[in-house]
Amino acid sequence: MNVLVTGGAGFIGSNFLNMMAPRYPEHRFINIDKLTYAANPMNLRSVEVLPNYAFERVDIADSGAVRSVFERHQPDRVFHFAAESHVDRSIAGPEAFIRTNLIGTFNLLEACRAFWDRSPDRVFHQVSTDEVYGSLGETGFFTEETCYDPSSPYSASKASSDHFVRAYHRTYGLSVKITNCSNNYGPYQFPEKLIPLMILNALEGKPLPLYGTGRNVRDWLFVEDHCDAVWLVAEKGAVGETYNIGGNCEKTNIEIVNLILDGLAKETGRDQEALRSLITFVPDRPGHDHRYAIDASKVRRDLSWTPKESFESGLQKTIRWYLEHDEWVRSVQSGAYQEWIVSHYRF
Ligand code: NAD
Ligand code: TYD
Repeated sequence: MNVLVTGGAGFIGSNFLNMMAPRYPEHRFINIDKLTYAANPMNLRSVEVLPNYAFERVDIADSGAVRSVFERHQPDRVFHFAAESHVDRSIAGPEAFIRTNLIGTFNLLEACRAFWDRSPDRVFHQVSTDEVYGSLGETGFFTEETCYDPSSPYSASKASSDHFVRAYHRTYGLSVKITNCSNNYGPYQFPEKLIPLMILNALEGKPLPLYGTGRNVRDWLFVEDHCDAVWLVAEKGAVGETYNIGGNCEKTNIEIVNLILDGLAKETGRDQEALRSLITFVPDRPGHDHRYAIDASKVRRDLSWTPKESFESGLQKTIRWYLEHDEWVRSVQSGAYQEWIVSHYRF
């Protein structure tokens, strides 16, 4: 198979390629990525030496460039990870989210419609989020039947693109599958998201900004468990179906920060009280969803998926990864990784 991965230089896409390209040498993996601030080619050092891996810098919002990729690489399957992914950035500037998440997805769907027959082996896999369902109160879970009710420009743009994916299945018979996953954490996550931001700020003795009361709840999943679920659904899931993916691991943000600080104190010998004194409550995010919680019983029951990592082991691995990858951390913090993109790919 020719497997097209969009956004493969970002957090989840690079974990996906690092896992799948060596695992399936019989498939060709083509990574297309615009290389925005969220991309880092250092994430792909181990796959870019593989003979079954290719990279092209492509903006999915450019329809001609997307068509050209389909002409030249003849993909059999598309794993669509590329997105503007940060809620706070979507509040500050929503336009890029419409361009990439909505128009970019539309361009990919149009290319699939133009180049593919309607064989069920040709699958467009939409990687989506639980944020499309909006906010839960103190009880209940998101199921695949929960109505979409997005709160942020990010989640509204993901919801719109999910609707287009379903519409292309119903209208044009395109083989699509959608996964809606809860919050991911793990290696290579850009430090604008809660867990890596808190790890790196704590190491530098900087304030740890918690929005509002710190009591908002997220449902956490180790990134490799998400990647395995995406591959499994593309292989064995039913065409046109949606699968919710989550680790049944709800935590308030303040709990997460305290667990990170406990882990850092243990790994580095730093003083726990001094670390805790860095916690700083700041004004709440506008439209901040109170609680996310995924009911993943469908993917567990129908496809026998189960996460391998517990939150304790996953968080320990993640903290160790950031402690052991000083070059990656320094290049991201200094912005040098963006110069590295230019020299590495000779742009
Ligand atoms: P990320 O921000 O780390 O990476 C996104 C990647 O997409 C980057 O490499 C970026 O360069 C690329 N990209 C952005 N605009 C592009 C464009 N116009 N053309 C081509 N490439 C472009 O995001 P992530 O956290 O890895 O998320 C990947 C996907 O998973 C997204 O679709 C996101 O909505 C979804 N998701 C994320 C989470 C999470 O917790 N991070 C949870 C559920 C679903
Ligand atoms: P984030 O990692 O941005 O993911 P999302 O908003 O997509 O769930 O945020 C996770 C939670 O942490 C969310 O409730 C907002 C909160 N948060 C903070 O309290 N402080 C921060 O600096 C960040 C980035 C997030």
